[in-house]
Amino acid sequence: MDGRDLVRSVKAVGMVGTARRLRTVRSSWRRWRADAAGLSARNAERARVPGPVTKVEPGPGGGVVRFARSELRVRVTTGGAVFWGWDGAEPEPSYALACGSPEPDPRAVLEPDKEGGWRVVSERTTVVVSRHGSVELRTPGGVMLRRDLPPRWWEPAGGGEARWVQRSEVAADARFFGLGGRSGGPRLRSGTYQLWNTDPGGSFGPGDDPLYITMPVQMVVADAGTHLVFHDNTWEGAVSLREGAVGAGSGHDRAGACEVRMDGGPLRCWAVVGTPARVLHTWASLTGPPALPPTWALGHHHARWGFGSEREVRRVVAGYRERGLPLDAVHLDIDHYAAHQVFTVDKERFPALPKLARELRESGIKLVSIVDPAVKAEPGVELYDSGVKAEAFVRDAAGRPVRGVVWAGESVFPDFTDPRARKWWSGLYEERLEQGFAGFWHDMNEPVSFAAFGEATLPRSARHSLEGLGGDHREAHNVYGLAMARAGYEGLRSLLPEKRPFVFSRSGWAGMQRYGGTWSGDVSTGWPGLRASLSLVLGLGLCGVPYSGPDVGGFDGSPSPELYLRWFQLGAYLPLFRTHAAIDAGRREPWEFGTEVLGHARVALDERRRLLPYFVTLAHLARRTGAPYVRPVWWGCPDDRALRDCEDAFLLGDSLLVAPVLEDGARERAVRLPRGRWYDTVTGRAYEGPGRVRLDAPLSRVPVLARAGAVIPVRGDGGVELEVWAPVPGGTGGGLLVADAGDGWEEAELERFTARWSGGRVLVEREGAEGERPVGLPVRVRGLGD
Ligand code: GLC
Repeated sequence: MDGRDLVRSVKAVGMVGTARRLRTVRSSWRRWRADAAGLSARNAERARVPGPVTKVEPGPGGGVVRFARSELRVRVTTGGAVFWGWDGAEPEPSYALACGSPEPDPRAVLEPDKEGGWRVVSERTTVVVSRHGSVELRTPGGVMLRRDLPPRWWEPAGGGEARWVQRSEVAADARFFGLGGRSGGPRLRSGTYQLWNTDPGGSFGPGDDPLYITMPVQMVVADAGTHLVFHDNTWEGAVSLREGAVGAGSGHDRAGACEVRMDGGPLRCWAVVGTPARVLHTWASLTGPPALPPTWALGHHHARWGFGSEREVRRVVAGYRERGLPLDAVHLDIDHYAAHQVFTVDKERFPALPKLARELRESGIKLVSIVDPAVKAEPGVELYDSGVKAEAFVRDAAGRPVRGVVWAGESVFPDFTDPRARKWWSGLYEERLEQGFAGFWHDMNEPVSFAAFGEATLPRSARHSLEGLGGDHREAHNVYGLAMARAGYEGLRSLLPEKRPFVFSRSGWAGMQRYGGTWSGDVSTGWPGLRASLSLVLGLGLCGVPYSGPDVGGFDGSPSPELYLRWFQLGAYLPLFRTHAAIDAGRREPWEFGTEVLGHARVALDERRRLLPYFVTLAHLARRTGAPYVRPVWWGCPDDRALRDCEDAFLLGDSLLVAPVLEDGARERAVRLPRGRWYDTVTGRAYEGPGRVRLDAPLSRVPVLARAGAVIPVRGDGGVELEVWAPVPGGTGGGLLVADAGDGWEEAELERFTARWSGGRVLVEREGAEGERPVGLPVRVRGLGD
């Protein structure tokens, strides 16, 4: 490590230039030598490719194709997902799959194809394996969606983990999405995206990569169809993408390209083909349904690093109350811990936390606690001692606990990939529940250590249990946050079985939605940060994580009143609607930005509250179908190329299109509409899609459009009402309502409504087994020229 590396590390841990942190980096430099000693160096390597086909063994759902120097297992499963794995890789073990592999589809069989190749034909896709080991994914109609070239491995001559590269081609018009939470999307442009969960240190903006949640999950959308591929491998890696180019009559098409590189681990892949909705449905059935947040978590949250005292919490809560502003949750950051140590309370600043929690609860506000994984390494500290007893901490190759430095000082890290450590950790939430917390905000779980070499995490040589299989941090790093979320979620389920847990986590991996959501991390205050925060929510939704949202106002600095307001207006339409900021940043209460902003923020808060039944319905739909609440505008028409490139608007469920203002000073904006009729929800004016329209975006609101025919459940004075947007003449529409089940597990009923013209007026009915019935709820029809 030379001086340049040191500067880079300083940046990497967001050093803000303090001497203390700099010292930690220097000490980590010393530790680096230990790390290098713990991992064997890469010496000579031998490259390998599969070679020609030698033998084929049909089996359930496909079979095994043997090549001279490898073998490929192909398996179409019930539900339509296709698995293929090289070198004997099977679907399990896997951190991503919720219940292992679905059953093989008995109808899918391996049969000879042209030129010595083989294919498996199934209902949703055809997989063609060439005699040299390329794998093509085709639509049922035979159109190519993706072509994997024969993979290549590099094997250390002395034995050990092989790294590998998988190159693929996609259509010239294809666009890439996903790969976890990326700041420069949602459309992932040509470039290299790292697979290594990272706290960027300080705050991030567009283009900072990687961030807290990386996943080898890509959704690829092209004229010919949509597909998702998932390389089930937790190792450090990178994905290089090159968007193709459409010749459009003046030249040849150039295919798009993707190269996945992994430093070790299996080469195995899941692929799903279909409409975006179908693809995500299948993805959620593989990796698990998204946890359903309790209803209060769909309201407004106020967080702050540096409330500093119970008095200040009460002051802020009173500020909301006095102004009649809705508030559903308050989040306490690390400053409520004693000496920054997790699972403790600073009794001087928060002398009666359970009482505070109870009083807030009685006024409809829940308390949420930050939970950091690092444990202060100090014998005599109760948590440390109990963790040592439970043998819960990550160790080095010599069996000593690996130390790092986090908020509480020199710390050790639970090994969440060890079922015993998870069990120990799970029980610790009891203390939090006794303090009166109702929700949990997992942080710093990439994991972060300020004192690490080159970058702010554990040394790659650190040993992990990996569910008893054993391995090092290179393999465990990316699932650290996921496994911590599991520990928290499972702990809460057993400690408080009657309530649905509310956990959201800064870091995670494929499948994290089973335990909860996430937020966008330390997004930088500024217009580019606002844009980046939307990119993360959209990208994560397409990777199966539907519940997320940004720190409204940005994490650092002081937003201008206008920027704060525009962020607030965006946040009001995202699943997690939370204001938050760093300890040294400006305040984020809506009344801190002048009376004009306060007035407009109130409108956004009231609208969020009015839409609560719609959000509750979307949360249930996400759980049942995998469809995110927040969807790209191409969701229903992925073949519309212009929509695929539209990154500054989104669909909220099927019914609403939200066009946030992402530019300073803008008072109108262009909005690209999917096909069909759309109504401006404030003016009622109708616009016809597809096409681009200009809409007013005064400071008081961002443009929100409703789809013609939409039936939207909203909160009225006396309970749920239906807001219905007139279908086009002769057309029909509809919508869904899932009644609010509160915080428990009771299965809520899904009701369907239809809307159609009848005798010159819009008729709304409830669908039922016995045919259409009256809705039994107040109905308000809009879009009739109102
Ligand atoms: C990290 C989190 C942030 C939190 C801070 C202090 O930066 O991302 O949300 O406020 O730590 O705990």
